Amino acid sequence: METSQPVISFENVSKRFVLYREKRNSIQEQVAGLLRPRAHGEEFWALRDVSFQVKRGESIGLVGHNGAGKSTALKLMTRILNPTSGNVAMRGRVAALLELGSGFHPDLSGRENVFLNGSLMGFSRRDMQTRLEEIVDFSGIGEFLDMEVKNYSSGMYTRLAFAVATAVDPDVLITDEVLAVGDEAFQRKCMERIFSFRQMGKTIVFVSHGLDTVRLLCDQAIWLERGVPRSYGDANDVIDDYLMEVNRQEQEQLEKRRASGESFAGGQLMRRGSREVEIVQVELLDRHGTRQQVFQTHDPVTIRMHYVAHQSIHNPVFGIGLHHEGGLWLSGPNTNFDGMDIPLVSGTGYVDYAIPSLVLLSGRYMLSVAVYDNSMLHPFDHHEKMYRLVVQSGGLRDRFGTLSLRGTWGVKN
Ligand SMILES: Nc1ncnc2c1ncn2[C@@H]1O[C@H](COP(=O)(O)OP(=O)(O)OP(=O)(O)O)[C@@H](O)[C@H]1O
Ligand SMILES: [Mg+2]
Repeated sequence: METSQPVISFENVSKRFVLYREKRNSIQEQVAGLLRPRAHGEEFWALRDVSFQVKRGESIGLVGHNGAGKSTALKLMTRILNPTSGNVAMRGRVAALLELGSGFHPDLSGRENVFLNGSLMGFSRRDMQTRLEEIVDFSGIGEFLDMEVKNYSSGMYTRLAFAVATAVDPDVLITDEVLAVGDEAFQRKCMERIFSFRQMGKTIVFVSHGLDTVRLLCDQAIWLERGVPRSYGDANDVIDDYLMEVNRQEQEQLEKRRASGESFAGGQLMRRGSREVEIVQVELLDRHGTRQQVFQTHDPVTIRMHYVAHQSIHNPVFGIGLHHEGGLWLSGPNTNFDGMDIPLVSGTGYVDYAIPSLVLLSGRYMLSVAVYDNSMLHPFDHHEKMYRLVVQSGGLRDRFGTLSLRGTWGVKN
């Protein structure tokens, strides 16, 4: 295959769906329907003016919220759908692992589907026979090979589909989020195979909500929001942009919830306390004292808690809690433990917790803040995981794990 021309090319691609209402509800609507020449369809643009190119050997990740249009873009690549306008061009053999339920015929057995899929990709029965063992072996499908696939569990289905998609030596491998339904061991096996495909110079299109994997696997990325590309280019940059926006939206939601006095989220008590002292605002400040939500590993950060004391309170204790987005509690310093005595609060003021160098690696973290009485048993105001902190780490060097220990190595030989 020529290397100069792109393997995948989207040129101003738009896709419109027309949604027909299932049922006419009122007499008026029914009459109106009769008067119109055709049922009035609501238009919906799943993709709007999307352009990008992927060269041979490059990999691209598609990211964005549910319903953003990612799977629709993949279906255009595999020609399951046609664009409403614009141009989609694909070169080479394309193998795709799309949403569950697409690709296999439910009434046929796994084995029959392997041959059917092969023939759709231009392989003879004999060709597929030679690949069958490999497919069965990789998928671990065992005795279920001869069962109708409609009776497969979603994991079994995905195992077989992935094994088939990658056994036919495609030039372009397209995978949608589906891999997530496989168990841990199988997911790992799939990722290894995808990475080895990349090493072999194949072109990869990868859709995932697992942004760390997108960073590792993809050279480029495109972030879709309601069908519109918001950011396109280097995968790390695009994901940083996306994360920043996700974070901004989440903070906005939290802000709204707080304003409406709602204190429960997902069954969890977010704010509690008797409120003689209230924490009214929390700011994350960079080295210049400017508010930020995204920090780099090893940046200094100051957490500023603005309070209002509605009465004079002696010896309050201020504290923070830092949690990994997975919920793990990473740190919980407070003024008492750190020997910082606050004799009295009255009226307004703020308390700072200054971190000289953030030891966190790239990821999203949750912050709690609280003010308690001097016994540390009675909360005046406790905000549980109500704030977000996003950390980016620059180089690949710091991609593994959560903490940057900044150790030094020594070798003796
Ligand atoms: N055949 C269809 N008819 C009508 N609307 C559709 C059709 N297919 C997709 N859509 C709509 O297009 C939008 C984009 O869907 P799509 O499946 O591409 O999103 P996605 O980015 O893959 O989301 P997710 O992360 O949830 O998988 C959605 O609003 C969806 O309802
Ligand atoms: Mg999808």
